[in-house]
Amino acid sequence: MNTLEAIKNRRSIRRYVKGAVIPDEDIRQMLEAAMLAPSAKNCRPWEFTVIKNRDMMQKIMDISPYTKMMETASLAIVVCGRPMDQEGRCGAFWPEDCGAAIENLLLCALELGYGTCWCGLYPSDEGRYEAMAKLIGTNEGVIPMAVIAVGVADEEPAQRGYYDETRVKVLD
Ligand SMILES: Cc1cc2nc3c(=O)[nH]c(=O)nc-3n(C[C@H](O)[C@H](O)[C@H](O)COP(=O)(O)O)c2cc1C
Repeated sequence: MNTLEAIKNRRSIRRYVKGAVIPDEDIRQMLEAAMLAPSAKNCRPWEFTVIKNRDMMQKIMDISPYTKMMETASLAIVVCGRPMDQEGRCGAFWPEDCGAAIENLLLCALELGYGTCWCGLYPSDEGRYEAMAKLIGTNEGVIPMAVIAVGVADEEPAQRGYYDETRVKVLD
């Protein structure tokens, strides 16, 4: 699958084959893809927590009502931002940087044959990222930005085309 095919084929998957096991080597590849994303001043202000434990997967669903797909997902990857890595080096670009890392992770997962769903945690005024920080035990100042469900897809949402000329301005 080339990059454009992966971009066009990627959809959020909310139903997975229950009990499917993802080899550690595949998880490593997804994380490596995430860590290869561009970041402001190359600060790479991120860290990742891989959750395979079913009780913890249940707790994720308790933290955010929009993560019910964790019920069938094989694992969850919490993507955390590290604003402290950018202090004094560049502006607070860590949310963008983490977003780029997440998209790399999603596309790599697709290439490896897995489905994913990006579930946002930050910003939220409902205490979600704080609760996630507590659940996974982050250090002070580390911000859980999103949790990604990963598994073998048990649904096949259709490709979509969103090209919208009205959103494009070309200045010659
Ligand atoms: C920042 C962000 C937060 C999201 N949060 C959730 C979420 O909490 N739960 C969920 O099911 N999907 C979530 N999504 C997935 C979007 O709903 C999905 O990407 C969008 O509907 C487009 O569908 P597609 O991913 O299949 O193209 C999130 C996506 C982004 C980028």
